[in-house]
Amino acid sequence: MSVKNICCIGAGYVGGPTCTVIADKCSDIKVTVVDINQRRIDEWNSDTLPIFEPGLEEIVKRNRGKNLFFSTDVTQAVLEADLIFISVNTPTKTFGMGKGRAPDLKYIESAARKIADTAKSAKIIVEKSTVPVKAAESISKILKHNSKCTGFQVLSNPEFLAEGTAIRDLLNPDRVLIGGDTSKEGQAAIRALSEVYERWVPKERVLTTNTWSSELSKLTANAFLAQRISSINAISAVCEATGADVSEVSYAIGKDSRIGDKFLRASIGFGGSCFQKDVLNLVYLCEALNLPEVAEYWHQVILMNNFQRRRFVNKIIKRLFGTITGKKITIYGFAFKKDTGDTRESSSIYITKYLLEEEARIVIYDPKVSEDQIRSDLSDCESFHSPSDFDRYVTICKDPYEAAKDSHALVICTEWDEFVTLDYERIYGLMEKPAFIFDGRLILKHEALRKIGFQVDVVGKDFS
Ligand code: UDX
Ligand code: ADP
Repeated sequence: MSVKNICCIGAGYVGGPTCTVIADKCSDIKVTVVDINQRRIDEWNSDTLPIFEPGLEEIVKRNRGKNLFFSTDVTQAVLEADLIFISVNTPTKTFGMGKGRAPDLKYIESAARKIADTAKSAKIIVEKSTVPVKAAESISKILKHNSKCTGFQVLSNPEFLAEGTAIRDLLNPDRVLIGGDTSKEGQAAIRALSEVYERWVPKERVLTTNTWSSELSKLTANAFLAQRISSINAISAVCEATGADVSEVSYAIGKDSRIGDKFLRASIGFGGSCFQKDVLNLVYLCEALNLPEVAEYWHQVILMNNFQRRRFVNKIIKRLFGTITGKKITIYGFAFKKDTGDTRESSSIYITKYLLEEEARIVIYDPKVSEDQIRSDLSDCESFHSPSDFDRYVTICKDPYEAAKDSHALVICTEWDEFVTLDYERIYGLMEKPAFIFDGRLILKHEALRKIGFQVDVVGKDFS
């Protein structure tokens, strides 16, 4: 069996870039990305794509209208496809059973039901979204009990791309993981999907496992990565209390080939749509499996992340003589990491809210995040008592120098490259004195800033 027509349900950060690269690498396969959100699809079909990702626009423009299509006609795309990716969102539940822990599977279920109602022939269904272990089984049951057709195969093919480097990760993945049924039909479906990837990924990097191993590997990979960040952040607190420097500690331990040097950058805590959600997902799974010790072990990764954000804000308050009420504080960076406009679970949101609790006046500058997005992210801030409080306490600037004017403190929350090369002499001149800088990403030249006159504080090193 060979795949000739792919449909992807969900035109988000995963579905959009993944299918764009597949279309680029497989000119004989028609790829249609569908979504129920008309605005999102209109943006994919316009000159301003709904997501910013280095290299993406060029590849979309090269293939759009040839073998790559974005549409809201889910029915038509499902009917035509031999293989369907499910790339819908799976946010953490905010209500009911598993609130705050379990992923909300209503979007996955509704996509599965749509396929069952629409399909007139058997198809390969591929879970791309991160799902709880055994989600493939639920999809299979929905198809079996609701579709007139038989013979669907459900595969797990988790996406490991990171935002900001999505295109690079898709073009040159460390591995592609495909999990499926051990039956002859299951193996044939795995083969068909492998052949799509093998157009550009070396065969030995396409790993095949059973479905549950594949689902659990995705959760485990994200949990391990998040755990490394929480581990180095825990050590950063020890560094600040002892005179050690976390960058030196990271460098020294990273030289151990068993540890490796990646994901050891101390920071104000990890953000993004995946890490917190997936660790909580794992915690929920362990609780459901009656493994409370395992659940607690992983939950500590989240607690440490929250602690790191709070600790950083406490330091800002302490340094600014114990009070920030009425003081102007400038936040550089609102995205959860550089090279993306995504703010989901960004530490900047938490830090800004903590500062607002103290009634500081906040000025935000980010090169890619829109004003609407910042307003929406802060809209549930508990310290706002009326709608006009946003404009009273928060200003969004389009220029970093304007943002720094009359500010008491500059807080680096995202590691955007452009922050490194700003004219800090000029910024110092614009600020109130003493002028404080809090580098939550360890990207600036701290000694040079001290020479200019700044009071410098960073994660994982105490200058005082
Ligand atoms: C992550 C996984 O890397 C990816 O494989 C998975 O498919 C989705 O989740 P993403 O969330 O896009 O990707 O970005 P990532 O680069 O992993 O960064 C996550 C967060 O950790 C960011 O806030 C980043 O700034 C932070 N981080 C990362 C650190 O604080 N220190 C580090 O050393 C690395
Ligand atoms: P991710 O980061 O996992 O890609 P996003 O939230 O960026 O998540 O994208 C998920 C997309 O899936 C959204 O654009 C949403 O509108 C879409 N979606 C959710 N449910 C359905 C559905 N049943 N049919 C089509 N699209 C859906």
